[in-house]
Amino acid sequence: NIPDAAGKILTVQEIDGRLYPRFDPYVLRNVPSLKLRDDDVILCGFPKSGTHWLFEIGRLLLHGKLHTDVKPKESLFADMVPESELNEVDSPRIINTHVRFDRLPSDVKTKNLKILYVRRNPKDLVVSYYNHTRKLENYHYDGEFKDYLPLFSKGLAYGSWFDYVLEWEKIIANNQELSILDVTYEDLKEDPIKEIRRVSDFLGVQRSEDFIEEIKDFCNFSTMKDRFKDKMGITDGHNIFYRAGEVGDWKNWFTVAQNEWFDQLYRQKMANSKLKFKFTL
Ligand code: A3P
Repeated sequence: NIPDAAGKILTVQEIDGRLYPRFDPYVLRNVPSLKLRDDDVILCGFPKSGTHWLFEIGRLLLHGKLHTDVKPKESLFADMVPESELNEVDSPRIINTHVRFDRLPSDVKTKNLKILYVRRNPKDLVVSYYNHTRKLENYHYDGEFKDYLPLFSKGLAYGSWFDYVLEWEKIIANNQELSILDVTYEDLKEDPIKEIRRVSDFLGVQRSEDFIEEIKDFCNFSTMKDRFKDKMGITDGHNIFYRAGEVGDWKNWFTVAQNEWFDQLYRQKMANSKLKFKFTL
C-alpha cells in the first residue's frame, strides 16, 4: 500500500520486488512463460499511454475490416486474463501488457514477435493515471491530485514511469534484432494517418489509403468512447478508459509550482536520455 502526501492509501501489491495493481498474482507471475503464437503481436506501454487506442488501430489493421464484434483489449490483457482464456481468442491476437521488458513472455524474444510500443508525455500521463486510479475500485483511492503527484517520482502501480521508458529507450537502441515500433500518443494525435500507415507497414499488412482513413475516423476519441461505452471499465455510467483524450490537458491540472517541480524532476531523471516528448501540440 502506498500513502500519498496526505496519507491517503493507494492499494497495490508487490510481487517479486515490483509494484502491480491487485490483479491475480498467479496470472501476473505467469506472464513470462505465456505460450504465444507465431503471428501474435505484443503491445507494450506504461499504463495510460494510449494502449487502448493503439490496440484498436492494430486490431483493425490486422483484421482488415471495421468490425466491432470482436473481443476488446481487456480480453487480451496478459496481466489480468488467465492463459486459458487468452487461448480461446482466435488469431490474429494483440496480447497487451504493462510488465517490464524482462517479464515479457520469453516467446516474444525467441519467436521474434512484433512489438508495438507506445509512450506518452508524462504530464498528461500522470493526470490520466490519477483519474484512472481514483475511478477504479481496485485501488480504493480517493486522494487529491496535489497529494498524488509527488508519488510519480517514486513510482505507482507498475513502478516508475521513468524506469519504464528509460529501459525501453535502451532496448530499442541496443537490440536491433527485435522488431519494435516506437509510437507516441502525441504523434498519433497530431498526424493519425501517417502513424496508422506506419503501424500498417510495420505489421506487414497492405491496406488501402481509404481503409486507413476509415480507421482514423473509427478510432478517433469520441467514436471510440461511444463504441466502448458498454464495455469493461465502467464507473458511474462512464467508461473510465476514455476521459479527455487530449495532448496538453495537464495544463488544466498542474499549478505553476507543480509544473516547476515536475520539470526539475524530469530534467534530473532524464538527464542521460535522448527521448523527446511533446507536451503540447
Ligand atoms: P486521458 O485520461 O488523458 O483522457 P490507456 O488506453 O493506455 O489506458 O490510456 C488511456 C488514455 O488514452 C486516456 O487518456 C484516454 O482518454 C486516452 N484515449 C483512449 N482512446 C483514445 C483515442 N481514441 N484517442 C485519443 N485518446 C484516447
